[in-house]
Amino acid sequence: MDKALLSKTAAAMVARGKGILAADESSGTCEKRFQSVNVECTEENRRAYRQLLFGTPGAEQFLSGVILFDETARQKANDGSLFPDYLAKKGVLPGIKVDKGVVDIPLHKGEKVTEGLDGLAKRLEEYFRMGCRFAKWRAVITIGRDIPSHACIYANAHVLARYAAACQAASIVPMIEPEVLLDGEHTIERCEEVTEATLRATYAAIAAYDVFPEYLILKTSMVVSGKDSARQAGVDEVAERTVRVLKRTVPAAQPGIVFLSGGQSDESATAHLNAMAAMKGLPWPLTFSYSRALQNPALKAWKGQAGNVAAAQKAFHHRAQMNALACQGKWRAELERQAA
Ligand code: 13P
Repeated sequence: MDKALLSKTAAAMVARGKGILAADESSGTCEKRFQSVNVECTEENRRAYRQLLFGTPGAEQFLSGVILFDETARQKANDGSLFPDYLAKKGVLPGIKVDKGVVDIPLHKGEKVTEGLDGLAKRLEEYFRMGCRFAKWRAVITIGRDIPSHACIYANAHVLARYAAACQAASIVPMIEPEVLLDGEHTIERCEEVTEATLRATYAAIAAYDVFPEYLILKTSMVVSGKDSARQAGVDEVAERTVRVLKRTVPAAQPGIVFLSGGQSDESATAHLNAMAAMKGLPWPLTFSYSRALQNPALKAWKGQAGNVAAAQKAFHHRAQMNALACQGKWRAELERQAA
């Protein structure tokens, strides 16, 4: 375990004014996204789309890192270099999704636990040799009638902690992502309660497995109203509740926290981040690690056509820039300045 490298990587991931692009959609998820714009989900189209994103001129000034899917980490960029090297040359840290997706939890209908611990140490060694310096593991917590169960929160917390320990041993910074889904009719109060219980259990497991908080990044969902809830909380309420939960649960020793967008609209994801990052006296920097909220407009502009690449890159550059402002709490002021 190279502690100096872990510390340097973690600090770079949350460098001021930058965030992380999640581009680690599995081929199945990619298929869904591509279908929405009528693009065939071939290996070459997936490569071409990632090239479009990673090759966007100037986007590197807003991105500290990119999370890759295994397939992408082995593909070549247009200049012939492998994508991890291509990103590193631009000063962007290559990261890698290492979980293997979710399976049902026996005896717990509708609940999932994430797989991928078997053989993980060997895979991490290879990813390190390929240049990947941080990793991601996503756990999924669903809110519904009588769920999440204790079993779901407990099982996911323990696999997250075991994954994090394996990463640190391999000198790779673990990003732990316990995502509380926003689907459902639940209230924001219920989301807050579930998010707090999830993070408490996760950090109890992190401590139980002797994971160092100093070399750990949390990727969390925000505390929001359920997508179909009758009352949709406003930006300030989301920001206050989310930060309250984080302050109660996340060690101050941790170098930073990043957010997923989870199906929020592009603008909501930016507005929520901006409101939280503008708060004074937080123990950690906050930034974005969005997939959909960074990529949606670019995907729509691209539609699989080489002739649309420049327009798609412009759309991606804009969202990256807006979120880079938001993670410094400067986005709203910039909007007002532009409107004036
Ligand atoms: P979204 O921002 O689209 O939620 O994706 C982030 C992510 O990495 C999910 O694992």
